[in-house]
Amino acid sequence: MLDLTGKVAVVVGAASGIGRAIAIGLAAQGAVVDCGDLDTVGVEETVATIVAAGGTAKAATMDVRLSADVDGLLTRVAAERGQLDIAVGTPGINVRKPLIDYTDDEYNAVTDVNLRGGFHVLRGAGRIMAAQGSGSIIVISSISSRAVEPGQVIYAGTKAALAQMVRVFGAELGPLGVRVNAIAPGPVETALTVPIRSSSAWANAYSEKVALRRWAKPAEIAGPAVFLASDAASYVNGEVLYVDGGWVDLDADFADEKAVETDTAATA
Ligand SMILES: NC(=O)c1ccc[n+]([C@@H]2O[C@H](COP(=O)([O-])OP(=O)(O)OC[C@H]3O[C@@H](n4cnc5c(N)ncnc54)[C@H](O)[C@@H]3O)[C@@H](O)[C@H]2O)c1
Repeated sequence: MLDLTGKVAVVVGAASGIGRAIAIGLAAQGAVVDCGDLDTVGVEETVATIVAAGGTAKAATMDVRLSADVDGLLTRVAAERGQLDIAVGTPGINVRKPLIDYTDDEYNAVTDVNLRGGFHVLRGAGRIMAAQGSGSIIVISSISSRAVEPGQVIYAGTKAALAQMVRVFGAELGPLGVRVNAIAPGPVETALTVPIRSSSAWANAYSEKVALRRWAKPAEIAGPAVFLASDAASYVNGEVLYVDGGWVDLDADFADEKAVETDTAATA
């Protein structure tokens, strides 16, 4: 069920981290994987890795903030390969600071990549797949869509928006045979989290939040992406799959315990 032989995928944000791992993971299951990213060198490295392992892939330099770039890549791949079965939108950036210190430029930078970029991938792939009558679209949300951490107001807002966008878009495209889902990772060892991992106290504090007591490797997000892309997930639509080692549920359990303690105290 996880075999992707004969499927055509596009992964946007494939030069690094989670996007690169997903591109390699989809290719390992047999998909043709065309890769896009702003980082030309990085995306070519990803493609070289896939090709060296016997896969088929092509690199494109593109900016997820520009609808012409996203639509250009998706339509070109669909035309050249004859179909578009899987589209993955991964780019995300963060500016960590209290909201009251956020500048307009910082707000624009984060929302342009995370939210507008996600919208471009959802809409571009959705149009092609709706006409085709099949396909799987995956975007990357985050535990930040539910977990609360000061300094993350705008980033968390974009990730919560993506989570709700896939639920609603999944309802729009489901009748047309297209599935739309998100993955919400916990802490993953990528370039994005270098600032956190450069402080062992901060990195360990994150590990402590995770039931598995460790960070994820990027490849651990690839398996869930392969699942959502494949026939194994043929009845999974409009879903946000938390791949967080148990962070969000542990947080929720603590919150429940606190609520019980408060109730008991109030009753007592
Ligand atoms: N690393 C984590 O702990 C973590 C946790 C939860 C969610 N996420 C999300 O996972 C996704 C991938 O992040 P990552 O950790 O792999 O980061 P990363 O920095 O390793 O990779 C991000 C990739 O996006 C590309 N990119 C950035 N702006 C772009 C643009 N305008 N157009 C095209 N490509 C662009 C970068 O060049 C890079 O290749 C992001 O959406 C991030 O928010 C990451």
